[in-house]
Amino acid sequence: MKSLAIAIAGAAVAALPALGAEDPIAVRQALMDNNGAAAGVAGAVMKGELAYSPVVGKAVIYAVSATAAAYGDFFPEGSDDAARSNASPKIWQDMAGFEAELAKFQDATAKAREIAGKAGPADADAFKAAMGPIFDSCKTCHEAYRLEN
Ligand code: HEC
Repeated sequence: MKSLAIAIAGAAVAALPALGAEDPIAVRQALMDNNGAAAGVAGAVMKGELAYSPVVGKAVIYAVSATAAAYGDFFPEGSDDAARSNASPKIWQDMAGFEAELAKFQDATAKAREIAGKAGPADADAFKAAMGPIFDSCKTCHEAYRLEN
């Protein structure tokens, strides 16, 4: 029994970093900065400023997909601090709507991972096709749930 109790306590501790993040605003902004950096690489490929290679495509897709998986954990009640954050108060007023945007983003990144496979999307066109729905979800979520500044 004792070892079971310890195992359960261990599981609870393992779940703590996300729930008890000391500064959820800083974490979610860092995650979005990661999205921004990945989008910068994708944009450079699309403009022809950066030669496409499947490893580049895979790195971009895996970066945004990690953000999509983690992002929803950093919006506890009371973290809508307008002085530091551009998260709209609508997130907490309409959590179901925000979660639907998050699900759309996760869906788009999961599909992109399928296209990427192990080696990354074969060519720039396959990469663009994988990124299209991802960029669409950046836009629709920002329009609804991010403040302008
Ligand atoms: C599910 C909603 C959602 C999706 C999808 C989303 N964002 Fe965001 N994004 C936000 C919110 C909310 C903020 C403001 C967070 C804050 O300031 O606390 C934000 C902020 C940002 C920022 C500013 C970060 C900072 O340091 O303040 C960048 C850059 C960004 N997003 C890029 C992207 C890109 C690129 C994508 C798509 C690959 C994307 N976002 C997808 C909701 C989303």
